[in-house]
Amino acid sequence: MKKFSDHNFENQRALIRVDFNVPIKNGTITDDTRIRGALPTIKKVLDDGGSVVLMSHWGRPLKDIEKKPNLTLADFSLKPVVSYLSKLLNTEVQFAEDCISEDAMQKAANLKPGQVLLLENLRYYKQEEKGDKDFSEKLSKMGDVYVNDAFGTAHRAHASTAVIAQFFPGDKKMFGLLMEGEIIAAEEVLHNNKKPFTAIIGGAKVSDKILIIENLLDKATDIIIGGGMAYTFFKAEGGQIGNSLCEDDRLDMALSLLKKAEEKGVSIHLPSDSIIADKFAADAATSSALSNEVPAGWMGLDIGQMAIAQFKKVICESKTILWNGPMGVFEMDKFQHGTKAIAEAVVEATSNGAFSLVGGGDSVAAVNKFNLADQVSYVSTGGGAMLEYFEGKELPGIAAIKN
Ligand code: 3PG
Ligand code: MG
Repeated sequence: MKKFSDHNFENQRALIRVDFNVPIKNGTITDDTRIRGALPTIKKVLDDGGSVVLMSHWGRPLKDIEKKPNLTLADFSLKPVVSYLSKLLNTEVQFAEDCISEDAMQKAANLKPGQVLLLENLRYYKQEEKGDKDFSEKLSKMGDVYVNDAFGTAHRAHASTAVIAQFFPGDKKMFGLLMEGEIIAAEEVLHNNKKPFTAIIGGAKVSDKILIIENLLDKATDIIIGGGMAYTFFKAEGGQIGNSLCEDDRLDMALSLLKKAEEKGVSIHLPSDSIIADKFAADAATSSALSNEVPAGWMGLDIGQMAIAQFKKVICESKTILWNGPMGVFEMDKFQHGTKAIAEAVVEATSNGAFSLVGGGDSVAAVNKFNLADQVSYVSTGGGAMLEYFEGKELPGIAAIKN
């Protein structure tokens, strides 16, 4: 495997798999983190005197159109990225309306040093997700060197993320700078961590987080559990949780996680109190309660003041912090305080020397909302990919280049 920074791209075309699966509303990009994340890789190729062919997916066009026939492929176009990226790069980005057409091939072949071409959404073709070999081979003809910089999609064994790598010799396939940075940050947390190591796990469902918690039981000293998933633990222990979120089919599992943690000497911290609401709405009536004594008709939508103090103490004493998932419904102002306080505690610990990694769509949205993203050590561009990495899985997009 060649190191990207050691490669000179002069007069070469880099075919870069990026993850431009960014939120776009009415043609406007509302969060450009992933696009900005790919810029250093693109710029290095251009600065070397090479040219760039970018490929990405956006959304899940074929699956969504099957469910909602009023949608068309045009609703999933990467076109809005063209002018946006042109501005960021200060150079006109070309566009090919079909990722493997003759026209796309021609445009890629005609690229001159310093030029950039973006291919239309790879998932217009079912072959992309199927990891079709012929489709992968066709894509591979678009560049001289294959660069995978799509950490956000590294958990998919798709044509452009994994299968394509076999069509490039070892010295012509490599990770981009974003992918490298993501792997270094994740390894820092998983394998080079300083103790105490606290994992903060939140979000709605325990079922989504079982594997990551199980894997972290062998690595972390402390696991903080917040968000809707906490109530499954309280109910499993016999608490009253009112109308709070609960996965009744996961009660046994919650108990078994607590038991395993005890056996392994890992401290699990559940939020002692909650901000409760009479309905799931921004204008709900609110009160506070112990998290295992939520009155009937009420639901916990954020962690309470005691829980904030309890969690802050653990976080501020940590040397390594992993944060995946919010503490409450931070999208609604009434229920954002817990998540905000935890974000501030992570920032404080970081300023005192801890290494902190924030990942997973919602916690990243939270640190962005509170303008704290630049005050933690690393913000991951991976949602599902980040989760699977910390579950201990080998990601196909990484394996394809490494092995
Ligand atoms: C993501 O945002 O999760 C990645 O871009 C991968 O997309 P997917 O979940 O549709 O495969
Ligand atoms: Mg996903």
